[in-house]
Amino acid sequence: MKRVMNSMEMAVKALETSLVPTPLVRLRWADYRVWAKCEFAHPTGSHKDRAYIRMILDLWSKGQLRPGVTLCDYTTGNGGISLASIGRRLGLPVRVFMPAGLTAEREEMIRQCGADLVLTPHQGFVAEARAAAEEWVQTQNGQAILISQSDNPMNRAAFEQAGEEIAADLRSAGVVPSTFVCGIGTGGVFSGIAAALRKQYPKIRTVAIEVPQAPAIFAKRRGETMIPKPHRLFGFGPGKIAPNTLEDLVDDVELVDYDETIPVLEEIASEEGLLLGPTSAANALVARRCAERQKEEDGAVVTVFFDRQDRYPSRPSKVRED
Ligand SMILES: Cc1ncc(COP(=O)(O)O)c(C=O)c1O
Repeated sequence: MKRVMNSMEMAVKALETSLVPTPLVRLRWADYRVWAKCEFAHPTGSHKDRAYIRMILDLWSKGQLRPGVTLCDYTTGNGGISLASIGRRLGLPVRVFMPAGLTAEREEMIRQCGADLVLTPHQGFVAEARAAAEEWVQTQNGQAILISQSDNPMNRAAFEQAGEEIAADLRSAGVVPSTFVCGIGTGGVFSGIAAALRKQYPKIRTVAIEVPQAPAIFAKRRGETMIPKPHRLFGFGPGKIAPNTLEDLVDDVELVDYDETIPVLEEIASEEGLLLGPTSAANALVARRCAERQKEEDGAVVTVFFDRQDRYPSRPSKVRED
């Protein structure tokens, strides 16, 4: 007799099928020499859907998802939006810990998906949000699960899949990549895609982007001590190197400040019709610089567009000092 699926099984199946390959676009803005993986095309508008769907499916496969259990994580916003949305779809409560003063839109999106949002002090970065999340989960007598995106290996694994999608698309276009450029938060996107591309293209050069206010890998390689300061490229520069950042995969590091991304955002909106967030513009900027520094026959430069513009209208006009 055919077994009837329960509602959680149905919801998990539906979640699985919502993870589909995202487009790889070739940018006119960069003389068609840069290809961008459009991770903003996932259902909630950012790459974090890919990461959280994978991390949640992993919990399901280990039998850890059961009705009533609360899903919890720390975030700069996109991860919280993805988790809140997935929790809603699975019928599970979600609690998100996020530094205050990022943007009102991301707070609103998380709340609209029915999650509890706990704001932690702005100056404490994601580290303080993480500590608060860990502490809260401890008090829940096993009724809450901390996803922990900074060190959950399924975050990185999700982007190995993205890297394989990129390689397949480039192959169909008859193109070989020379360089992969991507900024770093948890490092899930950078490390996952870099690992997959390096497997298929051992000579590919990788360029990580950090912010000048919190250049963790950059400072470490120069033997310098880094004291992180607040910045506005939310999602990059978490203040330290997260376990999901595989440093061995980083060939070079370039620094990009928030102010440099504004004209790029405007140009890409008007020339490509793509409405992006600032970290995607940072990726585009460095990718175009890399393409300009090499010969055309050297190959394509690949980068990632992380999220959509809709979560940024209220972004602060200067760095918060409180
Ligand atoms: C807007 C944005 N860009 C880039 C990143 C970096 O992604 P990852 O955490 O995979 O390094 C994040 C992560 O939160 C983000 O929200």
